[in-house]
Amino acid sequence: MLWSKLFIPTLKEIPQGAESIAHQLMLRAGFLRMLVAGVYSYLPCGLRVLNNVQNIIRREMNAIGAQEVLLPCLQPQELWDRSGRNAEMEEVMIRFVDRRGRKMCLGPTHEEVITELVADQVTSYKQLPLVLYQIQTKFRDEIRPRFGLVRSCEFIMKDAYSFDSKEEGLDNNYKLMYEAYLKIFSRLGLSPVITEADSGVMGGSLSHEFLILSESGEDTVYFCGECNYTSGKKSENCPGCASPLSEKKAIEIGHIFKLGTKYSNSLSAFFTDEKGSRAPVIMGCYGIGVSRAIAAIIEANHDAKGIIWPKEIAPFDLLLLPLNITDIDSRQLAFGLYHQLNQAGFNVLLDDRDERSGVKFNDADLIGIPLRVVIGAKSLKEKKIELQHRRDKSICAIDIDAAVEKIIQLNKKEGAG
Ligand SMILES: Nc1ncnc2c1ncn2[C@@H]1O[C@H](COP(=O)(O)OP(=O)(O)OP(=O)(O)O)[C@@H](O)[C@H]1O
Ligand SMILES: [Mg+2]
Ligand SMILES: [Zn+2]
Repeated sequence: MLWSKLFIPTLKEIPQGAESIAHQLMLRAGFLRMLVAGVYSYLPCGLRVLNNVQNIIRREMNAIGAQEVLLPCLQPQELWDRSGRNAEMEEVMIRFVDRRGRKMCLGPTHEEVITELVADQVTSYKQLPLVLYQIQTKFRDEIRPRFGLVRSCEFIMKDAYSFDSKEEGLDNNYKLMYEAYLKIFSRLGLSPVITEADSGVMGGSLSHEFLILSESGEDTVYFCGECNYTSGKKSENCPGCASPLSEKKAIEIGHIFKLGTKYSNSLSAFFTDEKGSRAPVIMGCYGIGVSRAIAAIIEANHDAKGIIWPKEIAPFDLLLLPLNITDIDSRQLAFGLYHQLNQAGFNVLLDDRDERSGVKFNDADLIGIPLRVVIGAKSLKEKKIELQHRRDKSICAIDIDAAVEKIIQLNKKEGAG
């Protein structure tokens, strides 16, 4: 991709009303724009990031045998009457009556729809266990949309649901999900703290929250600096080592629940067991705030100049930065490398703008591509180009002829993140 053609409206000033670092950076870097409070458009770079995050989640879900589905956003309110959650979802649910007089809503979550689906299709223990997931847009009329993607009214969630015939099956699926979550968050460049949480509105017995410590979080955790013990519930001292706990703000990026039979009972998802008797399916549900995770990734991966994308999430693998595009040699080399690197399977962004190098460097720092190749007239004379890492700012000069080979090697060996 050529920068001159890319729809990436970067901003020099900090946009008004953007309170958190992640929100400011996404706007400034030209990844995101607000339509109205709590509702956002992803521009090309933002969408690339979103797709990368989704693919990491998808691969880890598939790896534990979860199967992807896509459930409807449009849902009948009657379903929520039957589950008993219509009243408790009163405030967040976006409702309307359609032209045929059907009372509908935009799905704030999908326990009801998926339980209904399984109730209709699963009748025997032989069809269990079953784990389904989707990555999809949710709608919630949040009273206070904040911090951009952290709390929005239209957002993307990964929601998975497990269905088992036995309690041990649920235990097993819960454990698999828990472990998959650790892998996902580590690939996303996040180090969550995990607290055992209250199941609240979801009902059920056990749940864990995955949280990223950050000033722009709306959750509070109690943290022991001595042994890393973390709790969602307030208490004076750490139960492990008796040190005083400190209060920290955190962003909830994932939440897993053992639901048990709450939804299968209310929506009649029953199966016949080995002995021929009917029993409610035992369920778990497992959410990740996909769009919220992007904000958390930036909160955890930035410096004063901009975003520092972890390798797997970056919108491009590599930024080619000729300092003077009007210089014939620089231009030729830049386009030559661009084609070779594209051929080698890299996602390359070439800054082909006729701009001052200061502007180019600032923009490069802002948008946070992990690896950058700088082509300058001076080093060209020595037949060298410069490889720069965004994260640690390390620079090395390499021979032009060996450049492509070296970049391929580097990407294989240590990654650029
Ligand atoms: N308004 C929102 N905007 C963006 N992401 C959200 C929003 N609400 C929830 N999420 C994400 O979806 C995940 C699963 O949804 P869940 O229903 O468990 O959230 P929740 O308990 O309502 O979250 P919160 O307490 O932050 O409102 C959450 O862990 C969070 O990461
Ligand atoms: Mg909520
Ligand atoms: Zn402790």
